[in-house]
Amino acid sequence: MKKIAVFTSGGDAPGMNACLRAVVRTGLHKGLEVVGIKRGYEGMIERDFIAMNAHSVSGIIQQGGTILQSARSDRFRTEAGRKQAYENLKAEGIEGIVAIGGDGTFTGASVFMNEYPDIAIVGCPGTIDNDLYGTDFTIGYDTAINTAMNAIDNIKDTANAHNRLFFIEVMGRDAGFIALRSGIASGAEAVLVPETKTNIDALVASLKENFYNKKTSSIVIVAEGDDAGGAFEIAEAVKKQMDYYDIRVSILGHVQRGGRPTAMERVRASRMGMEAVKALLDGKKGVMIGTLHRDISYTPFEKAIKHHQEMNPMLLEIVEVLG
Ligand code: F6P
Repeated sequence: MKKIAVFTSGGDAPGMNACLRAVVRTGLHKGLEVVGIKRGYEGMIERDFIAMNAHSVSGIIQQGGTILQSARSDRFRTEAGRKQAYENLKAEGIEGIVAIGGDGTFTGASVFMNEYPDIAIVGCPGTIDNDLYGTDFTIGYDTAINTAMNAIDNIKDTANAHNRLFFIEVMGRDAGFIALRSGIASGAEAVLVPETKTNIDALVASLKENFYNKKTSSIVIVAEGDDAGGAFEIAEAVKKQMDYYDIRVSILGHVQRGGRPTAMERVRASRMGMEAVKALLDGKKGVMIGTLHRDISYTPFEKAIKHHQEMNPMLLEIVEVLG
């Protein structure tokens, strides 16, 4: 293998740049030519390629977002779009690709590799949601939970000052991992996640207990994909049974996607990026690089996207007992 490409795709995540840097520098170290594809699959279809050298990735390990930019490509879902992408990659002489992204990215990579098996693709898990199977942590998750925790801490101050109940919605369209760990870390009274059925009556009962025990405030973390609805809907339902409590809602939103990656993030992303290039050179393809119990793991794309990582019941218990 002489020439590889790298791209970032789907929702950006802090640490993607660190991963990108590792791919480029490892590739160069191994004597490969490295090409950056801008805006994920869109750039692949439009042949938006740039040659990467060691300098192209200088000073990016500390930056959130992605210098290659990202996109969600509808055209890549079509056969014609993928054919165009393949022709562009062949014309450029690319033999291997590192895809940094989440489930949509690996779904696309998997379809593409079935159609065009002569281009090897391996993936690095880049998503703040931590919802991929085969890795303990995805790139972006650690930073996102720290960002969420800091925001929740700020809200807690004002909640205490006014004796209020806050519903704080964090990201996680299909998964509650951000909610779970940011909730534990900020001492939230309850955490509502899509993985477990939300019982509004039970929630109200425990909030009432807090209220009558004169807790100065209560914080409920809601994952955006919770089965009982978003933070506004849940707050409405609770208000009906506790109209005497001063209730506020806060949606943290995209603030969780940006920001400087944490130290753990940068180290993990660097390791995954380096291992991804080594995997390509070892002849691996169609796998996501992850870390499980400190070791590097290789999970087929289909498995990484279809089998959701399970919620750790011990973490759910912490919320229950300590919240
Ligand atoms: O990156 C994953 C995620 O943050 C989800 O939790 C969220 O629902 C989604 O992205 C929103 O992304 P966008 O605004 O790019 O559609």
